Amino acid sequence: MGAGIAQIAVTAGHDTVGREVSAEVAERGRATVERYLARGVEKGRLTAEARDTALARLTLTTDLAELAGCDLVIEAIVEELEPKRGLFAELDRITRPDAVLATNTSALSVAAIAEATQHPERVVGMHFFNPAPVLPLVEIVRAPRSSDAAVDLAYQWAEQAGKRPVRCNDTPGFIVNRILIPLLNDCVRVLDEAGVTPEDLDTAMTNGAGWPMGPCALVDLVGIDVHVHASKALHAQLGEPRMAPPERLVAMQCEGKLGRKTGAGFYTY
Ligand SMILES: NC(=O)c1ccc[n+]([C@@H]2O[C@H](COP(=O)([O-])OP(=O)(O)OC[C@H]3O[C@@H](n4cnc5c(N)ncnc54)[C@H](O)[C@@H]3O)[C@@H](O)[C@H]2O)c1
Repeated sequence: MGAGIAQIAVTAGHDTVGREVSAEVAERGRATVERYLARGVEKGRLTAEARDTALARLTLTTDLAELAGCDLVIEAIVEELEPKRGLFAELDRITRPDAVLATNTSALSVAAIAEATQHPERVVGMHFFNPAPVLPLVEIVRAPRSSDAAVDLAYQWAEQAGKRPVRCNDTPGFIVNRILIPLLNDCVRVLDEAGVTPEDLDTAMTNGAGWPMGPCALVDLVGIDVHVHASKALHAQLGEPRMAPPERLVAMQCEGKLGRKTGAGFYTY
């Protein structure tokens, strides 16, 4: 997600500092951005010159202090509360007081992250969707203490970058995951309850409900592990049985069948 968000930033014309835990991982992120932009040139979506200009805007570092001059910091580290809180406390010390600090968390409370700082009013959620350069939506999440100025800056940044931002409150799952996760869990349960194959379930939902993509193909794309993690987080916060990850998905995760990224999930890739 970090590489995808960096790609959005440089393509939108912003000088961007990408911070990773090691130079090697950072270079992998740069290679991802290069690959996607090269594909854009091949498909005629941008010129070779625009690609080179965009890539020149990206600098990489492992040193958090190099984010000191940023107007906006978008965090996309591991989906765990304590590392995120630790990072925001440090960012709060390093960055200018008027810089906005955003988290791309999918399922954690933005308020719980913001409260690790001395200035929770400048912390918001900017929830991108995967793949971030392709999917237009960005949920702009207002925590109870987020300021109007911080929310507006995040909204305008996303809009200027060509995304489609929408505002929402800091509630479990925000908008899309609150609706989609229990729905996809229902789909997976139907496989066993109704004795349906993944192919037939996807055929049913694309042809009968007009979904652009079948639910099994979608879970494979998202990643079984990512979906199970988000389901557990929603279930812990809202307690509805539908939110809990279906046994079938937990078993797939244990077998290492994580979807497209491992070459096997409901389908083989
Ligand atoms: N994968 C998705 O579909 C998706 C969609 C929307 C939002 N998100 C959110 O984006 C965030 C990142 O998700 P991802 O799928 O890219 O995860 P990932 O595990 O692929 O990437 C996390 C990156 O953070 C780096 N990292 C780990 N600890 C760090 C630290 N303490 N400081 C700095 N960097 C650190 C890792 O080196 C790694 O490159 C999560 O909060 C996730 O919930 C993910």
